Amino acid sequence: MKKNESRPSRSGLSRRDLLIGAARSGAAITLSQLLPNEFTAAFAQNTIKGKEKLIVRSLRPEDLETPVSLLNTWITPNDLFYVRHHTYAARVDEQAAKEWKVEIDGEVERPMAITLEELKKLPKASVTVTLECAGNGRAFFDPPIPGIQWEKGAVGTARFSGARLSDVLKKVGVKAAGKYVAINGADKPVGTQPKFIRNLPMAKAMQADTILAYEMNGEPIPALHGYPLRAVAPGWEGAYSVKWLNRIQVIDKEQEGFFVKTAYRYPNKPVAPGAAVPPENMVPLTGLVVKSFINAPLEGASFKPGKVRIAGFAWAGESFITKVEVSKDNGSTWTLAKLGKERERYAWQSFEYEFTITQPGSHLLMARATDDKGNVQPVAPQWNPSGYLWNVIDKVRINVEA
Ligand code: MTE
Repeated sequence: MKKNESRPSRSGLSRRDLLIGAARSGAAITLSQLLPNEFTAAFAQNTIKGKEKLIVRSLRPEDLETPVSLLNTWITPNDLFYVRHHTYAARVDEQAAKEWKVEIDGEVERPMAITLEELKKLPKASVTVTLECAGNGRAFFDPPIPGIQWEKGAVGTARFSGARLSDVLKKVGVKAAGKYVAINGADKPVGTQPKFIRNLPMAKAMQADTILAYEMNGEPIPALHGYPLRAVAPGWEGAYSVKWLNRIQVIDKEQEGFFVKTAYRYPNKPVAPGAAVPPENMVPLTGLVVKSFINAPLEGASFKPGKVRIAGFAWAGESFITKVEVSKDNGSTWTLAKLGKERERYAWQSFEYEFTITQPGSHLLMARATDDKGNVQPVAPQWNPSGYLWNVIDKVRINVEA
């Protein structure tokens, strides 16, 4: 081993890897400070407890991607659901959950703190939602874009249940001046990072499907997904679905913080790849765009000449999918795939088709979805400075044996 070379640990992670992991998290800590804490095991094993099957994009804060091979059920089980936060997750035990309160103030008639128990007494609403991080697919942009290098799996579908945000807002009485709802969680910023506060325009906040969820797939919201309470803004990019929710402020104009004024913004006109965009030309992201991915076959799979089943999921934020087309000849010709029977407004829809491919060699399979507004997945990406909303036609290369 050369002088400056790092010695790998039994887990394959070197001291250098551990320090880089720490540095990436933004925390000014040394390895010796890291060792005694609860994250040592996570660093050593490079997994997060309860999420062992996920790809670790960052250990702390936990940013975990679901391998496409596991995204093959309409409902994504909680242990396979991707995780994304900018901050240190709030750690809330059962006792703290029992005492959980959401402070509500700002442009309201009756500011109040509403407890989780009180929220549970309001009518319970359930909504099946495909939650996707705006940065899903960032790794594919060219020129590359800094940030978590998500590939295809920062997305999943869950059934969330909770109280309607509109019921809560009716309880406090929104004044005429109230235009936005700023939502804030109990997670801790990393170092000097600003608080993760997001804001929902009043119309979205008042939609009957926008909920404060205390259940995910029939279980209490898991710790990393915002236990005991999170917002769910169906069809909108995932950052609106604030986790560990404990503060709601009704405000008269857009919130001023970094996660509203700077992050999660998109150019108001198409820009050249690599271009710098002045802040005044950036507008907030809202709904997710039409998109699909192929979960079978997997990249590089080998087949005997004959039948090859292609399958996957397609979604379009607040819109319905109307068709998914598939191709086995580099997109020269397209065939309608069969759509699955599970169809809900904010949830992905499965598709499948059986090709016959007899010619041995390397074949490119493709899928392209269309929504009920006529939006179609593009052939080429729209580059943007933060690498959001990647939705290019999905492709998988397979091999047909001789
Ligand atoms: N809520 C808080 N409090 N802090 C965060 O950093 N990240 C958001 C959102 N809610 C975030 C948050 C982002 S960017 C996404 S994509 C979703 O949570 C991810 O939700 P999940 O981890 O449950 O999949």
